[in-house]
Amino acid sequence: MIYSRIIGTGGYLPDQVITNADLERMVDTTDQWILERTGIRERRRAAPEQTTCDLAEAAGRRALEAAGLKGRQIDLLIVATTTPDHIFPSTATKLQERLGGAGYPSFDIQAVCTGFIYALDIADRYIRTGGANTALVVGAETFTRIIDWTDRGTCILFGDGAGAVVLEASDTPGILHSRLRADGRYRKLLWVPAGVSEDQREAKDQRPFVEMRGHEVFKWAVNNLSKIVDEALAECDLTRADLDWLVPHQANTRILAATARKLGLPMSKVVMTVERHGNTSAASVPLALDEAVRDGRIRSGDMVLLEAFGGGFTWGASLVRF
Ligand code: COA
Repeated sequence: MIYSRIIGTGGYLPDQVITNADLERMVDTTDQWILERTGIRERRRAAPEQTTCDLAEAAGRRALEAAGLKGRQIDLLIVATTTPDHIFPSTATKLQERLGGAGYPSFDIQAVCTGFIYALDIADRYIRTGGANTALVVGAETFTRIIDWTDRGTCILFGDGAGAVVLEASDTPGILHSRLRADGRYRKLLWVPAGVSEDQREAKDQRPFVEMRGHEVFKWAVNNLSKIVDEALAECDLTRADLDWLVPHQANTRILAATARKLGLPMSKVVMTVERHGNTSAASVPLALDEAVRDGRIRSGDMVLLEAFGGGFTWGASLVRF
């Protein structure tokens, strides 16, 4: 039986820090309000000349270095992003050229904040069915480029960054199970109304910025996240007590705390970066994972649950033995 294992992680955050005090000067908000409602103190913003591919490259190189591999040794590359460098070609093909090697499949995945979980599942299935031996999976975003900086309901939440993992075929698991979900009925609770096809036909007045019904998104997330975690655990005949770490999508401290509470997990088992990163969409889970691997919290043998939710709505969970 072939499985896939995570053999290296990497992360990258751009240098510019946007604090809540900076936001107080831009919109009608306060540090106290943001902290109480979201748990976010600061987030990063890419420099004007930095693109999603630049962030993805930095995180990808760090993951490859941790795995002891060169770019040309991978044979599958997936980039999860909502903010690609261009409409086409994909950010993944641009990244492939930079990392070296050519010919192997490279493509982007768009599932907004759940994108990394979707990409990880696809790469895992490639490896388990013999379609690839070594895969680089990246979540990268310049989400601040699609933020309306006059909208206090959204601009306080999001940031830029990238995270990556290298997967390798192995005869021991690895990724035990992934569960992906989507429900398009909720797509307008969190979306960017402007687009390519639709925009050109009729939506000329729509602006290319995130629009969100925050309260409804919040309620939906709290009600559904613990369910998918339980489903993933049941599929593997595991219980919540078997989990060493929960690495959730970093959207909001209150959502993370409510999910942990529903799962009966102490916060000491939850990896949290939202305070310093904000919500980096597809980058948030691999960035948090990389941080906890590098600081020694997540060790070989640990059972780790990754979960995320986002626009679409999409949501998903992966159970991973390190
Ligand atoms: N500063 C100050 N006041 C703000 C504000 C800000 N940045 N943003 C909104 N408000 C105001 C609202 O205008 C509203 O005022 P009103 O009562 O006079 O109308 C009030 O605060 C409450 O708004 P509400 O949206 O109900 O607040 P909330 O407690 O739901 O918190 C969010 C707002 C956005 C922080 C919260 O809903 C949230 O985090 N939702 C999930 C978002 C998310 O995770 N999205 C990404 C998913 S991948």
